[in-house]
Amino acid sequence: MIIAIDGPAASGKGTLARRLASHFSLRHLDTGLTYRAAAAAILKQGVSLEDEAAATDVASKVDFAALDRAALSLHEIGEAASKIAVMPSVRRVLVEGQRRFAKTSPGAVLDGRDIGTIVCPDADVKLYVTASPQVRARRRTDELNSSGITADRDAIHADLVRRDERDSTRSDSPLRPADDAHLLDTSKMDIETAVRKAVGIVDSL
Ligand code: DC
Repeated sequence: MIIAIDGPAASGKGTLARRLASHFSLRHLDTGLTYRAAAAAILKQGVSLEDEAAATDVASKVDFAALDRAALSLHEIGEAASKIAVMPSVRRVLVEGQRRFAKTSPGAVLDGRDIGTIVCPDADVKLYVTASPQVRARRRTDELNSSGITADRDAIHADLVRRDERDSTRSDSPLRPADDAHLLDTSKMDIETAVRKAVGIVDSL
């Protein structure tokens, strides 16, 4: 079984994906981390974020078994990830690895921006998770504050809107719901309600 979950930054799709994977005993891949890992290596090596050939080489070496969410959570890394994610050849090598992950038994939950449309168009279930920009900015700010990082909600809101714009207007694999995706707007839901709804959608198929 493959469950595809897409949505904008801080929509809650990551938490939902982890919870669904655990509920249905599936493997989980946060595909954003694959872009973040490539971006982090590029920043560390001092390679230009404009150099597609170099970025593709770095992306081809990303180890999917060693993706460290905490180490890759920095805002600058998310920004750089969004920039290299517009490059078709970077996407090609990462999508290849993501598809291999999805096809390995017993199946998987993948979350990202293009899972239902490009990576796993034949997924058994597709969810598109959204929340209003205001709610997403508040959640991200609370998350950062509770981990001891001082965060300004207005600045985070502006960043999220800019990143959504870049992710949904790029020409290769833009963020958009697959035609057969179930839409889940979590603006007025807590995570438990969102998980219950998502489990209900999967169980009803
Ligand atoms: O979900 P995230 O914030 O960790 O993702 C970081 C960036 O990676 C995001 O701004 C766009 C890119 N990304 C993508 O283009 N396709 C995916 N499937 C996942 C992430």
